[in-house]
Amino acid sequence: MSKPLLFSTSVQHQDEKSAMLQKDRRHLIHPQHHPQDHLDPQIWVSGEGVRLTNLEGESFLDGLSGMWNVYVGHGRQELVDVAASQLKTLAFATAYAGSSNQPAIELATTLQRLVYKNIEAFYFTLGGSDATDTSVRTARFYWGAQGRPEKFKVIARRLSYHGSTIGAAAATGVEEFSAVFGPRANGFLHIDSPYPYRFTTTRRDVSPGVAAADLLEEAILREGPESVAAFIAEPVQGGGGGIIIPPPDYFPRIREICDRYDVLLISDEVITGFGRTGRWFALEHWGVEPDIVQFAKGITSGYFPLGGVGVSKAIKEVMDSVEPARRWMHGYTCSAHPVGCAVALANIRILEEESLVERSAILGARLLEQLRPLSELTHVGEVRGLGLLAGVELVEDRASKQRYAESAGIGRKVKEELLSLGLCTRVVDDIICLAPPLVLPEEEIERIALIVRQAIINVTGS
Ligand SMILES: Cc1ncc(COP(=O)(O)O)c(C=O)c1O
Repeated sequence: MSKPLLFSTSVQHQDEKSAMLQKDRRHLIHPQHHPQDHLDPQIWVSGEGVRLTNLEGESFLDGLSGMWNVYVGHGRQELVDVAASQLKTLAFATAYAGSSNQPAIELATTLQRLVYKNIEAFYFTLGGSDATDTSVRTARFYWGAQGRPEKFKVIARRLSYHGSTIGAAAATGVEEFSAVFGPRANGFLHIDSPYPYRFTTTRRDVSPGVAAADLLEEAILREGPESVAAFIAEPVQGGGGGIIIPPPDYFPRIREICDRYDVLLISDEVITGFGRTGRWFALEHWGVEPDIVQFAKGITSGYFPLGGVGVSKAIKEVMDSVEPARRWMHGYTCSAHPVGCAVALANIRILEEESLVERSAILGARLLEQLRPLSELTHVGEVRGLGLLAGVELVEDRASKQRYAESAGIGRKVKEELLSLGLCTRVVDDIICLAPPLVLPEEEIERIALIVRQAIINVTGS
């Protein structure tokens, strides 16, 4: 596989880059900050379609849609125009009770048509982490407003990622997100994920999907159903787990268990919402409706920061019927930002007009078809995918599913090799994650699979 065609890396560019990096290293703190990961960073300067260009003029295929979010591709003029026009008309107005704005009203109404049928009303945030906080607070509020304030615990799963605020990090099932930040927020606990490649159970009476879901029932009974407010789960685990797709009977069983013990089901669709998996929202694959759904990323394709939470009719009725003094006392200055809502509406229009949700299902199946033969490689443990969301899990030993030692740095090396071959994406532990824009041209699918194959061979040796 040949290296990507590079434009000349002129001395001027090198000087420009080192001057920028000096300021960057001194004054800019990055998500998951560490200088060791910032020795030779990319400075992105432009994007067009499914490609990103760095300061040196090198062009890369964007294998992760930015940060799992640029669904409609880079450089969409219609989104730029809508944002500019909204900024001119009304750049900002508060949406606190007593005020509203037209784009927010239209967006909530549009979402009511697109998300699960039982979801009635929406609150808009700035991203996914504050959406998690909003969902958790809303679940606790819901039970408290009905005289059950002791119902506050939230059950989540190991290998989940729900964000980086204090609440969202406490829900997150990856220890590193909390370890260095002092005690976790109270009231969060975790059960194992339904990880088909690695989940083991001694139960023989039920399928692995049901056995994994039953861990929720065990946890609820252990804690006492009277103390559990909600179960939060990503339909497909992304950033924490490296694309974990549950067995088809997992979420139907989860729904039954939640109903049995009066536990709200929160679906975290920050990665899976808006067509990423080939359906508008991912629990549709298994015929399940949550009580609360949260989203971000794909709602604006990253052209403006926006997230949100949708709640069921039952929850909305409780919010509407409490005394004013017991109101849902939650709010962000930039909630229902008129520019974010206008951009979201235009982005959703593109998703609908260009049938990108259907396209995600079709192209996703082709991508998986192209990736599946990678399973023949010595160090590929599993290839999996749903819609345009795919994972290739690397292992040291296939027979025992033994992971590489962290010190081997395989994930980092593969990520660098992918980049040197022209594909920019994320590797979670040793799992290559792929989530390209939904506008990916068909001919790029084969190219992605070839690059992934070559990168694995170059790093693992076979
Ligand atoms: C499932 C999920 N929930 C929540 C978040 C947090 O979203 P944000 O980074 O917008 O705060 C993410 C981010 O990747 C996510 O993948």
